[in-house]
Amino acid sequence: MKEELRVKKIKNGTVIDHIKAGKGKKVLDILGLENDFTKVTALLINVPSKRVERKDIVKIENKTLKKEEVDKIALIAPNATWNVIKNYKVVIKNRIEIPDELDGILKCPNPKCVTNMDEPVKSKFKVEEREPIKLRCQYCERLIDLKDVL
Ligand code: CTP
Ligand code: ZN
Repeated sequence: MKEELRVKKIKNGTVIDHIKAGKGKKVLDILGLENDFTKVTALLINVPSKRVERKDIVKIENKTLKKEEVDKIALIAPNATWNVIKNYKVVIKNRIEIPDELDGILKCPNPKCVTNMDEPVKSKFKVEEREPIKLRCQYCERLIDLKDVL
């Protein structure tokens, strides 16, 4: 059965496809969609796929992604496909890649880090290892696991 038979095509919005099976819910969390009552959202879990054995898919009507949202998704769903849908057609398709740097997106878990002080400095992390992902805070130099920031 093709997945189109399970959830219909959307007219306008974003489809994040080829999410590693099991990570779709986390993508919803990252985008805050469970509490966004203005957007109709579909989460498909365990869809059969050619490229991987099983995948998750997130479809969000009338939403465009910001760069910081794409960068966050990349951390938990690297190599997912980001599709922009206009008038039922896929007008942009991009592979989501882990960026080298994350600016102002994540909060450093070190309470003494200058980015967590009263007059906060924008956070900045460099991706130091990719498999599994490890991030280096550019201020306090702490090496951070993904689970500590997402
Ligand atoms: N999609 C959708 N609504 C549309 C168009 C596409 O929900 N109006 C979804 C499709 O169901 C699919 C994804 O967006 O999950 C990408 O669509 P498409 O490029 O047509 O599919 P494929 O060719 O299978 O994609 P890929 O080559 O990336 O595997
Ligand atoms: Zn820090």
